[in-house]
Amino acid sequence: MKKSVLVFSMMVSLIAATSCSDGGDDKLVPVPDDEKEYSEEWYAGGVNGTVFNATARAYKQPVEPINADPLLYRQFMRGEEIAGKSFVSAGETGYSGLGPVYIRKSCIACHPSYGGHSKRVDVFDTSDSRNGYLLMIYDPASPTLALASKYFTGMTQTRAVPPFKAPIDESGVTIQWMPYVDEYGNKYEDGTAYSAGTEYEGTLIYPIVEVAQEAILFEDFDMSKHAASIEATIGIYGVGLLDAISDEDLRAQWQEEQNRGYASGLIGADIDETGLNPYFPGKHPGRFTYLCTRATLDNGPGANALWNITNVTRPDRTYHYITEEYARVMSHDADVQAALGLTQETIFDNLMSKSLKAEMTTEDFEAFMVWHRGIAVPAARNLDDETVQRGRELFYETGCKDCHRPSWTTRADYTPLPALSNQKIYPYTDLLRHDLEMKEPGRARVCRTTPLWGRGLLTVTSGHTDMLHDLRARNYEEAILWHGGEAKKPKEDFRKMPKADREALIKFLQSI
Ligand code: HEC
Ligand code: HEC
Repeated sequence: MKKSVLVFSMMVSLIAATSCSDGGDDKLVPVPDDEKEYSEEWYAGGVNGTVFNATARAYKQPVEPINADPLLYRQFMRGEEIAGKSFVSAGETGYSGLGPVYIRKSCIACHPSYGGHSKRVDVFDTSDSRNGYLLMIYDPASPTLALASKYFTGMTQTRAVPPFKAPIDESGVTIQWMPYVDEYGNKYEDGTAYSAGTEYEGTLIYPIVEVAQEAILFEDFDMSKHAASIEATIGIYGVGLLDAISDEDLRAQWQEEQNRGYASGLIGADIDETGLNPYFPGKHPGRFTYLCTRATLDNGPGANALWNITNVTRPDRTYHYITEEYARVMSHDADVQAALGLTQETIFDNLMSKSLKAEMTTEDFEAFMVWHRGIAVPAARNLDDETVQRGRELFYETGCKDCHRPSWTTRADYTPLPALSNQKIYPYTDLLRHDLEMKEPGRARVCRTTPLWGRGLLTVTSGHTDMLHDLRARNYEEAILWHGGEAKKPKEDFRKMPKADREALIKFLQSI
């Protein structure tokens, strides 16, 4: 299917119906034709990592070198199956081992269509397929906004396989979308209301998340001294290419930002991955997740999520993602003891064991990693359009590029998937964290610059344009307008632009 571009008229009308505020007569990707010269910018994922596909499946395609290799392709397909299936607790189905306590049953539960973002929702219900939020409970008074990790796992678990009980009862979690009016009364310099023409014209919103004390399993946990926040998914496509950027290049970007003296990003802390990354042991700076808490893909958000989202064990993770406090409370619980017919000591030891039987095979995990690493980035679209060209100019002139660094060249020796070496890619991120001084940002106060590649297809792949770490932005305009702090000047410049320029800038963002 690669390179054959499917154009569904249905999708064209979907775009037209849902992206009115984002302006523009979106066209699906032009069929790459031999007549036309595509400059390197069209190849968002580099020549080897780009797929010319602008359909609802645009974020799910293998990179060409995987397509071309029968063994890798088979592993990719198996990996895709593992990421897409709902795990179950019992049996030996190849998808067994869910629980005892867990977050969701599959990757796809939060990363539908594998990318961009999940949907903004009003109710925190993990059985709602649009809800890709992770819930975090933290101490708002601590300088690092430390997670309440004595009681809850970092990514909070709200589900359990009976007779076990969930640490938090989801019905006690509330998300309120609060109205926000900025210092300009939510208007552009020319007097136009933000998001003019939409049903939410002239408004901005941000979330307040609360967890009721009664919803918490731990009797001695005081929610009034804690805060809750939600984080949305980022996107799985292209992460192999981000992984293939060298640590040296990342550190050089950080150094350059320190030298320039404005919008100087924070680099993720070094993580020692000796024994955790078979390809690149040693220390690496964090580059994945909104807080840059993960360094390489082999010990990254996906490799870990496969285990800690579901609690499915495997040869390199023969223990549960669980807190000792949870094991203590569950092992003392009379219902749990009665249902299992086991003593408190045995239940506790089982829950905390470091040598559980592996529920997933190494072979399956390796196939999963081929899939994870090998998802291509959709090619840019419409870059030769005049308005898009104008938008591109504005993106550079306004200083968006200072954090959304357009291009990187991947390392020469990316051994996990050599075809991803030496690729000039266009992710539009510096992989560093910045403070945009948003109202109530939750834990992602200093947030990594989100890659912008492929985002323009969000409407086609996911049917919405919700953006930012908690999905408070309902379209591109709002995503830009929430930029403050280190990005205040570019945001102000955007607010002052004539309408045609604002639209051009957004049209460029929709095209990359
Ligand atoms: C509970 C919902 C949820 C599930 C299930 C989930 N994720 Fe995520 N994922 C997230 C959220 C939220 C983020 C952003 C989190 C953050 O920054 O802390 C994220 C981030 C990521 C990232 C980081 C991307 C980047 O650019 O930094 C990758 C990769 C990823 N997830 C892969 C996976 C894979 C693979 C699975 C299945 C094994 C999975 N996720 C399951 C919610 C989920
Ligand atoms: C100081 C660094 C910085 C500058 C300058 C900057 N951004 Fe950002 N941008 C970020 C960060 C950090 C985020 C993630 C914020 C979050 O999710 O809370 C982001 C997020 C975004 C998003 C949302 C992406 C998504 O998928 O959630 C868009 C769109 C965006 N920026 C566009 C722009 C444009 C256009 C400009 C120029 C007018 C710009 N940015 C300037 C740092 C910057």
